[in-house]
Amino acid sequence: MHSHPEAADTLIIDAQLYDGTGAPPVERDVAVRDGRIVAIGNLSNWLAEEVIEANGRALAPGFIDVHTHDDTHVIRAPQMLPKISQGVTTVIVGNCGISASPVALKGDPPDPMNLLGERDAFSYPTFAAYVDAVNAARPAVNVGALIGHTALRNNQMDRLDRAATPQEIEGMRAQLEEALKNGALGLSSGLAYGSAFAAPTEEVMALAEPLAAAGALYTTHMRTEFDAILDAMDEAYRVGRHASVPVVISHLKCAGPSNWGRSTEVLKSLDGARRLQPVGCDCYPYNRSSSTLDVKQVTGDIDITVTWSTPHPEMAGKLVKEIAAEWGVTQQEAARRLQPAGAVYHNMSEEDVRRILSHPASMVGSDGLPNDPLPHPRLWGAFPRVLGHYVRDAALLPLEEAIRKMTSLSARRYGLAQRGEAHIGYHADLVLFDPERVRDAATFEKPQQPADGIDAVWVNGVLSYRDGQPTGERAGHFVARGVASRVDAQGVF
Ligand code: ZN
Ligand code: CU
Repeated sequence: MHSHPEAADTLIIDAQLYDGTGAPPVERDVAVRDGRIVAIGNLSNWLAEEVIEANGRALAPGFIDVHTHDDTHVIRAPQMLPKISQGVTTVIVGNCGISASPVALKGDPPDPMNLLGERDAFSYPTFAAYVDAVNAARPAVNVGALIGHTALRNNQMDRLDRAATPQEIEGMRAQLEEALKNGALGLSSGLAYGSAFAAPTEEVMALAEPLAAAGALYTTHMRTEFDAILDAMDEAYRVGRHASVPVVISHLKCAGPSNWGRSTEVLKSLDGARRLQPVGCDCYPYNRSSSTLDVKQVTGDIDITVTWSTPHPEMAGKLVKEIAAEWGVTQQEAARRLQPAGAVYHNMSEEDVRRILSHPASMVGSDGLPNDPLPHPRLWGAFPRVLGHYVRDAALLPLEEAIRKMTSLSARRYGLAQRGEAHIGYHADLVLFDPERVRDAATFEKPQQPADGIDAVWVNGVLSYRDGQPTGERAGHFVARGVASRVDAQGVF
């Protein structure tokens, strides 16, 4: 049957096809064979082993979650239900300066590497070992990877509260080069965290130098997202210019009440930089952030919900101010007693979230934390929340533009060859969903819930999720950096 030119493994009939580039949808049938899209058009004369009636629902390239902390999760929970249930077919791990590889721990993982798991979760001393582990686990989604600056620092340095020496930077560079040789997408940093805050810009610049030759990029959880955010953005641009690589600003936001409303200024800075160098950002569609509980951010001006605490697991779900009142101590003291802990910070304005999400250079990335017992709902809800809440209900942006921010923009930026668009010859990573019904179900109170309205998801041509259930097939694999990220001064992708 496969020898017949008009035979396919799968035919998807009567879809509104979004190609991922931002173009409006067209009514099409799509044929998939051997993991690729082999025909698009009126395919009524085709045969297939499986025919799916789309009935005019939306068919799009599978979503690319550019900002994840799924490094160890893709191995330990390869069914990847939080992501496949959203229509996500590729995740990029290693964000915010923390990656599972290459890592050799001397003790417990430092904050925030503990977001990826405990000590025993880190068993990949080289990037090649991590790639092998991902492929052996057969995850349900494809996996691209960044290398974390903090992870490299922790490998090479005896303490993290100082700048790296030239020799230590040499050691970090050698590890980064091994990873780039084996297909890593780039370098990430997490300069706001105590484990990297002492790193001067020059340390990151020196470490970033090998990226350009590999066609890789630099992503950053910036030095600050609070009042000095414009300086932090300048620092990110400077690293990009020094290393001649594209820059992605992670989870761009205006954090803290004194900063609310400044997204206009922040995006003006981004647009100014985009005239000179390739710069973009990712964001998630919520006005609350989440990470480890940072005592410095416990200033009393916002609510902070505790999501986990090693010494006080019973406090998960409570506000720091409630815990402080219960214990009769200050909020800062309560936060110290809860360490190590995780938190949700009520620290953004809705207006800023909307402005950043609708900017043409922003990609969607969940920043979900899969090891958190009470995870921020972005882990299960980020993509359907954009499609349902922001596109359909709030009419913030057109559906084809939202899809572009989840697909082609991301694939082109990160160099994921032949993904992120629905064209003949491309990998058949696809999602079929109902624009009228798609909706995030995950809430802050009940965060572990699959979305509604995601009807079918194919990964590398294999039907992996259908009608609210995983099919049991897991067809993802490690994806190496493909074509070099296009260095486009306009930053228009
Ligand atoms: Zn981050
Ligand atoms: Cu992150």
